[in-house]
Amino acid sequence: MNKKKKNFALITGASSGIGEAFARKLASQGYNLIIIARRKKRLQSLAAELQEKHSIRIEVLAADLTMEQDISKIEKKIAELNDISILVNNAGFGTRGYFAEVDITKSVNMIKVHIITSTRLTKAVLPQMIKQNSGAIINLGTLAVGLPNPGVTVYTATKSYLSNFSKSLQSEMNKKDLNIKIQVLCPGLTQTDFFNTEELGYQTLDSEDEYDIQLPDEVVEESLASLTKEGVIVVPGSKNRKIRSLMVKEGKSWDEAAKVVSARDTKKNDPE
Ligand SMILES: NC(=O)c1ccc[n+]([C@@H]2O[C@H](COP(=O)([O-])OP(=O)(O)OC[C@H]3O[C@@H](n4cnc5c(N)ncnc54)[C@H](OP(=O)(O)O)[C@@H]3O)[C@@H](O)[C@H]2O)c1
Repeated sequence: MNKKKKNFALITGASSGIGEAFARKLASQGYNLIIIARRKKRLQSLAAELQEKHSIRIEVLAADLTMEQDISKIEKKIAELNDISILVNNAGFGTRGYFAEVDITKSVNMIKVHIITSTRLTKAVLPQMIKQNSGAIINLGTLAVGLPNPGVTVYTATKSYLSNFSKSLQSEMNKKDLNIKIQVLCPGLTQTDFFNTEELGYQTLDSEDEYDIQLPDEVVEESLASLTKEGVIVVPGSKNRKIRSLMVKEGKSWDEAAKVVSARDTKKNDPE
C-alpha cells in the first residue's frame, strides 16, 4: 500500500477491539480514516486523538449496521470520497446458545452485520479499487471458518460465508490481473470487548490458558504483514495455526484441538 499518497481506509467496528487497533495502526501509517460503529462518542474521542497525533483526515460515521438507511449512508460516503484503498469489514458480535435457543432477531441481525453489510461495502469500494488497480479488503472471520462449531452456529456460518466470498473474489481479481488483495482474517481468542457483553455473560479470557489469547495489536500486525503474501485465509498466532490444522485435518473440536496443542507444547518445553 502506498504510504505517501494518503488514501482512505474504512473500518467498521472501530469503536473497540480489533477495529480500533486497525484504526490506530493505519493512522500511524498515514492513511486517512473513515471509522464506523454505533458508539459515536468512542469514535469521536479516537478520531480526536489520532488526528492530533498523525495529522490525518478522519470521518466519523455513527451507524447501526443492521439498519438499511445507515448502510446506504456509508455507501454514499464511499462514493463521495472516491478514494478508498483499504476496507476492513470488522464489525461483529456473538450470541450464546444453540441455534434453536437463540432469538431469531439476533441471528438475523448477525447475518445483516456480518454478511449483508460486508457484501454491500465490498461492492461499493470495488469500482474505486479496480480503477486504481490497487487496494485491500480484509473480512473478519474466525479460526473455525468452514468447520462445524456447535453453540456458535450462525456466527460460524456467517464467517464461513465471508471466507468463501473472499476466496472467490480473490480469484476474480486474479483472473482480471488486478492488484487487489482480499483477506479473510481468522483470529483465535483475542482480548477485546467481544465476550464482555450481557449476551456472553461478561466473560474475561484470562483463565483459558489452553488457548493462545492474542492482543488486538498482534492480530492487526499479522493481518497487515500478510497483505503482501499469497493466500486469502490468515490465521494469526502460531498456536492458533496448530489448533486450526488439527481441526481441519483430524476433525477435532476447537476445545479438543487446543488441549492437544497445549499438551504438546508443555511436553516440548518440559520433556521430563
Ligand atoms: N475477540 C475474539 O476473540 C474474536 C475472534 C475471532 C474473530 N473476531 C471478530 O473480530 C471482529 C471484531 O471483534 P472484537 O473482538 O474486536 O470485538 P469488540 O471489541 O466487541 O468489537 C466489535 C465492534 O463491532 C461493532 N459492532 C457490533 N455490532 C454493530 C452494529 N450493529 N453496527 C455497527 N457496529 C457494530 C462494535 O461497535 P459498537 O458497539 O460501538 O456499535 C465494535 O466496534 C468481529 O467481527 C469478531 O467476530 C473476534
